[in-house]
Amino acid sequence: MSSPKRRPLIAGNWKMNLSLAQSVELAKAIKDGTKNSPADVAVCVPFTAIPVVAEVLKGSQVRLGGQDLYWEAQGAYTGEISAGQLVDAGASTVIIGHSERRRLFNETDEAVQKKLKSALAAKLVPIVCVGETLDERQTQKTWRVLETQMVGALRGFKPEELGPVIIAYEPVWAIGTGQTATPTQAQEAHNFLRKQAGKIVGEAFSSSVRILYGGSVTAENVDTLMAQPDVDGALVGGASLKAPSFVRIANFQVPVRGA
Ligand code: 13P
Repeated sequence: MSSPKRRPLIAGNWKMNLSLAQSVELAKAIKDGTKNSPADVAVCVPFTAIPVVAEVLKGSQVRLGGQDLYWEAQGAYTGEISAGQLVDAGASTVIIGHSERRRLFNETDEAVQKKLKSALAAKLVPIVCVGETLDERQTQKTWRVLETQMVGALRGFKPEELGPVIIAYEPVWAIGTGQTATPTQAQEAHNFLRKQAGKIVGEAFSSSVRILYGGSVTAENVDTLMAQPDVDGALVGGASLKAPSFVRIANFQVPVRGA
């Protein structure tokens, strides 16, 4: 179980799914089902659903986020959405550097850093994603890749600027594949990322930063993942699209130590 200093966070990433009517229905069920969750709960929804889901979640414990943003404040950037527009629509958090954006839309570490800067300036809580591909894992490049992505995102900031940042470890080979990282693999990577956070930013950040695991998290495997000392939560794709599974994940149970 994560340190008591770090309140767990269970975040859903709805990706490019659901109609507005389905979004409203799911958000209502999540709001009702997570009132007593041991974690902070968030849903990151398609841009078009943010205002309607914001209405549903108003006054509730569930936070609302976008799945990406563009770093400029406004202007001729067809198709893009700024941090200010996300806030205006009702979001308080945002995913940055998801592997699907890196892989399918050629997002670079430099872009991730610019997005992080603009999210922080708009007071959005950034969830920065890192993770290695299967090929990188099989060729022993995992640690180098994770280090490069962490340095790429976090260098150049003052430690106090990065206070709100959340990291998500999402091994690409585990996303949408049903092949979840084992609790041991997740713990090993999270511990490495926490040490990197210490080297790049500093000790205080390293011990306070929340590191979420993402990649085929389900109602069945969340408890053992959450039992790991450096796993502070989950970023959930497929299993966040159905209320019963996401609500169960948000109400994870970890064995009491010494019991
Ligand atoms: P799955 O939970 O569907 O594997 O997706 C994980 C993810 O990409 C969350 O951002």
